[in-house]
Amino acid sequence: MPGMPSGTVTSASSHTAPDQPVTAFRGPSTPEPGGTIRRYALTARTATVRLASGRQVEAWTFNGTVPGPPITATQGDLVEVKLHNADIASGVTLHWHGYDVPAGEDGVPGLTQEAVMPGQEFTYRFRALQAGTYWYHTHEVSDLGVRMGLYGTLVVSPRPASGGTPAETTGTGTGETSGTRARNAVDLTLPAHTFAGTTALGDQDRPFTRQVAPGSPVRLRLVNTDNTPRGFALSGAAFRVASIDGRDLNRPGELNRTRLRLPAGGRYDLVFPMPPGQAVLLVDDRPALTLTPGGPAPAAPAEKTAAWPEFDPLSYGGPAPTPFGADDRFDRRFTMVLDRGLAFSNGSPMYAHTVNGRAFPSIPTQLVRKGDLVHMTVVNRGRDTHPWHLHGHTVLVLSRDGREPSGSPLWMDTFDVQPGQVWEVAFRADNPGIWMNHCHNLSHADMGMALHLDYD
Ligand code: C2O
Ligand code: CU
Repeated sequence: MPGMPSGTVTSASSHTAPDQPVTAFRGPSTPEPGGTIRRYALTARTATVRLASGRQVEAWTFNGTVPGPPITATQGDLVEVKLHNADIASGVTLHWHGYDVPAGEDGVPGLTQEAVMPGQEFTYRFRALQAGTYWYHTHEVSDLGVRMGLYGTLVVSPRPASGGTPAETTGTGTGETSGTRARNAVDLTLPAHTFAGTTALGDQDRPFTRQVAPGSPVRLRLVNTDNTPRGFALSGAAFRVASIDGRDLNRPGELNRTRLRLPAGGRYDLVFPMPPGQAVLLVDDRPALTLTPGGPAPAAPAEKTAAWPEFDPLSYGGPAPTPFGADDRFDRRFTMVLDRGLAFSNGSPMYAHTVNGRAFPSIPTQLVRKGDLVHMTVVNRGRDTHPWHLHGHTVLVLSRDGREPSGSPLWMDTFDVQPGQVWEVAFRADNPGIWMNHCHNLSHADMGMALHLDYD
């Protein structure tokens, strides 16, 4: 984009820094009572990565791998991640996608910290207060950085006392299983990524197989780390969507022969018991993962998943009370009309992805006060899908095209606003700081589709 270098959204030099650094909003340095400290060291560096197929690609990595090391914790733990940049020339940060960390830990260069340049370090600390499936990625030249491999998963298990089944093991396709609580539980975290021209699930760029004992509870955590929606389908087993964007759904019903469409940045957790005597196939546009009960199991049926109806989260599960809703009095209302066209950015015209006719950094900041109940309307007048993502807050979906959800309350941090659609969402402004509010097609964000939400 002429006049708009890639990485504009996230580069420190391209927009005005906040009046004061957000260091006032750094996280605590101790776990909650009963929690432990989960320490990780991530080194960002260029590396030649050997994919499962044997192909070698040049990548930007954390600790030499794509995806980076899985980060796991239990609710109440302190997560402490020391980021070191060895040789990523444009700089690196860590953003905890969907995780409502204190603003000073949010990893947005030029906003909450300076980018970590080669030879430098930055240590992130936050309490793991929410259980669920999340991910992390660099937020400096994020379109290029994430595409090159600077991302990984973050999974927080429920506090054992809360009665949930803790994740026994998470892994990117390693298939290790262990367990003390739910015997032989299988818990796989599967970031889906288009990488160097291949489609990878976890660290596997070709179909792969895991053996699972019949009857074992299986949890597949699907994470879309791409810029565009990803389609998934499961054949050979009925399943439930237990959670979306890390939030459990209320009374999720059983699904069969249903296609799933994950927004860019979104997460779906699928759960089911491993059926006896038959393989289960996870299809991600093409066969990706086969779970087999072992022995001479008949293959999962090769079904034509493209014809299956598409899952709609707005009509799934059972209604439940929410802390606020469409009929509440809102303290602030914001409308964002998404489109594409000529816009002014830093005073000069450019072709951009726009919000209300303007491009970053010329889109007015949305101002809220702590405690406000905030209403947002997002309208897509363009021809591209825009996965809308707000940092630091999880929003409750109030309606899509005027229709309220008829199923479970739906809390999301990234929702696909398809061409022509209108979404209304709400959230409580309870996390002071300054936050990005942007399209998670990161190439769109780099081309202007981003703004700030600030607490006055
Ligand atoms: Cu997942 Cu501002 O990003
Ligand atoms: Cu977009």
